[in-house]
Amino acid sequence: MKLLVTGGAGFIGSAVVRQAIAQGHHVVNLDALTYAACLENVASVADNPAYVFEHADIRDRAALDRVFASHKPDAVMHLAAESHVDRSIDGPGDFIETNITGTYHLLEAARSFWTAQGKPEGFRFHHISTDEVFGSLGATGQFTETTPYDPRSPYSASKAASDHLVRAWAETYGLPIVMTNCSNNYGPYHFPEKLIPVVILNALAGKDIPVYGVGENVRDWLYVEDHADALLTVLAKGAVGRSYNIGGENEAKNIDIVRMICAILDTKKPKTTPSGSAAAGHDKPSYADQITFVTDRPGHDLRYAIDPTRIATELGWRPSVTLEEGLEKTVQWYLDNEDWWRALQTRDGVGERLGARP
Ligand SMILES: NC(=O)c1ccc[n+]([C@@H]2O[C@H](COP(=O)([O-])OP(=O)(O)OC[C@H]3O[C@@H](n4cnc5c(N)ncnc54)[C@H](O)[C@@H]3O)[C@@H](O)[C@H]2O)c1
Repeated sequence: MKLLVTGGAGFIGSAVVRQAIAQGHHVVNLDALTYAACLENVASVADNPAYVFEHADIRDRAALDRVFASHKPDAVMHLAAESHVDRSIDGPGDFIETNITGTYHLLEAARSFWTAQGKPEGFRFHHISTDEVFGSLGATGQFTETTPYDPRSPYSASKAASDHLVRAWAETYGLPIVMTNCSNNYGPYHFPEKLIPVVILNALAGKDIPVYGVGENVRDWLYVEDHADALLTVLAKGAVGRSYNIGGENEAKNIDIVRMICAILDTKKPKTTPSGSAAAGHDKPSYADQITFVTDRPGHDLRYAIDPTRIATELGWRPSVTLEEGLEKTVQWYLDNEDWWRALQTRDGVGERLGARP
C-alpha cells in the first residue's frame, strides 16, 4: 500500500513511518516541521526508495491537493497535530488551527481525491486521536469506544473536534474512515518536553525532577512501537467507520513512573554526587533525591484508562511490551542517543515550565 502519513517527523508518526517501511509499504511523509518535528527520527528510512518526504502544512489546501495528485495514496494516516497539553494552555490558537482547521482541510483534500479516483472501496482515512477526548476518570472505570466525549483542555477539545469532523465526513460524504483513540505513549524519540524524557534528562543533568501536584495522576502507558503496530493493524483489518481504543494495559501513577525511571538510572548510571536528602548524608545517592513537587497543571485530568476489549477481540491486537521492559528500553535509548536530545533541548520553550498559568 502507499500510505500518506501526516506528522511523520514527530514522535509517533516517525514510529509509524519506520514500521510501515519495514512491513513493505510505500510511505509519503507529510510534515510542516514545527518545533516538535525532527527528521532524524526517520533518518533510518530516508534513503529507502519506498520513502518520500513532503514539507507541507495540513492547513494549506493547495499543497495537500498537490501531494494527493502527485502521490495517489491508498490510505491516509493522520497524525499531524499540536500535541502538548501545557502548550495548549498557554497558546490554544495553534491547536485550533492545526488540529481542527488542518483536519478539515485534510478531510476535504482526501474526499476530493477519493471522489476523483471513482471512490475506491479500499481507500482509508485513518484518524489518530487520543483518550483525552473522554475526559477524566475517578478511581475506577475505563474508557470504551462509546464513552461520551468530555474534553477538558484546549488540546483535548481540539482533538475531540477533529474526531467529530472525521465522523461527520464518514456519515455525510461516505468517506471510508477508521479512527483510533490511544492512551499516553512513551519510548525512543519522545520529544524532550514530555514527562518521561523530562524525568530522564533532568535526572542526568542533576536538576530538579518536576512532578505536577502530588503525582497521583494515573495514565495507561503504551510503548510507542506497540502503538505503531496497533495503528497498522487497524488500518489493515479495522472495519470501515469504526473506532478502536488502544491502551497499554499498564496503568501507573506519575509518581510511580518517576520513581521507576530513577531506579533504572540508579542501576544503569549510578550517581556519584549526592543531592537532596543524600547530600545530607542519609542514604546512598539516588536520582529519586531530585524529585520535586511543583504547582499542578490547571484542570489536570486525574486518571485515564482504556478498555481494550474491542481491538483485542475484533482485531486480535494486544500490547507486547510491559511497562518495566518499555521504561528500561527507553532509558537505555536516551543514554545512547545524547546527540539527538541535546539538539532538541535548544528549541523554543523546551526545559521551561509551560502551562502553569491559571
Ligand atoms: N503522544 C501521545 O501520547 C499521544 C497519545 C494518543 C494520541 N496521540 C496523537 O498522535 C498524534 C501524534 O502525536 P505525537 O506525540 O507524535 O506528536 P508530536 O508533537 O511529536 O508530532 C506532531 C508532528 O506533526 C507535525 N505538525 C504539526 N502541525 C502540523 C501542520 N499544521 N501540518 C503538518 N504537520 C504538522 C509536527 O511537525 C510534528 O512532526 C497526534 O495527533 C496526537 O494527538 C498522541
